[in-house]
Amino acid sequence: MSHSQVASPDQFTEAELLSQLDAHLLPQHVAIIMDGNGRWAALRGLPRIEGHRQGLTALREVLDTCHEVGIPNLTIYAFSHENWNRPAAEVSMLMHLLDDYLTQERQGFQDRQIRFLPIGRLEKLPTSVQRLVQEVADETQHFTDRVLTVALSYGGRAEIVDAVKTLVKDIQLGALSEDQIDENLFEQYLSTHGLPDPDLLIRTSGESRISNFLPWQIAYTELYFTKILWPDFRRHETLAALLDYQNRERRFGRVTQADSPQSGL
Ligand code: IPE
Ligand code: IPE
Ligand code: MG
Repeated sequence: MSHSQVASPDQFTEAELLSQLDAHLLPQHVAIIMDGNGRWAALRGLPRIEGHRQGLTALREVLDTCHEVGIPNLTIYAFSHENWNRPAAEVSMLMHLLDDYLTQERQGFQDRQIRFLPIGRLEKLPTSVQRLVQEVADETQHFTDRVLTVALSYGGRAEIVDAVKTLVKDIQLGALSEDQIDENLFEQYLSTHGLPDPDLLIRTSGESRISNFLPWQIAYTELYFTKILWPDFRRHETLAALLDYQNRERRFGRVTQADSPQSGL
């Protein structure tokens, strides 16, 4: 399929987008920076919390769509280390929403066999939320086919620093020697250990930045930036992003397939 055919996914219906997806070329891990809730609300003269509420509806739809097409790993940025700097009232509302979301989805995670994996400085969350987060994580930890990783009070640099500290401790304890350290080993010290690196990172709301999300893990990830605000990012937009991903050529530093030795240099 040529690139021009997918240049305007808007012209396709969801069924058409779905039919163009190739099950063998799907990303195995999609990471999402769910941004733009506040602007979505402001555009409608609503308080920011309404944007966050609609954002959760979008999340449910995106999660369903990813599972429907067969993507096993989804990692979402729900609350960053830096988001603690927001007004206390907004932080408190976000914590309540997280509590509500987990209370509502708990049974659904069981029924659909989804592992809920929280990452980040969880100890910074309010105690009651921390408890719920831990309970839902514990009761779903045996599920392996579908993993929903949720970054909470997460910062990528902090994650790397934490990994280095643990690694240094292991060396001091004699559990590890310096020459054993390589990229694979280092990865074991990250909170995402065991997960494949994201194949696709989606950021909504028109910002073209990473905002300290998974800096180690996305070294070779395909980036997809869209102007759509997160509450409006639904099934159609998800399918369009997946289709866009499928039409990219991931080279990992190699030459393009057309220039491969078989075709002559
Ligand atoms: C993303 O939406 C949600 C969180 C960061 C929790 P924002 O709240 O950042 O929305 P904007 O960027 O202000 O529109
Ligand atoms: C990134 O969005 C964090 C989350 C989506 C949770 P922000 O809105 O906090 O990012 P910046 O401040 O625009 O970089
Ligand atoms: Mg934002």
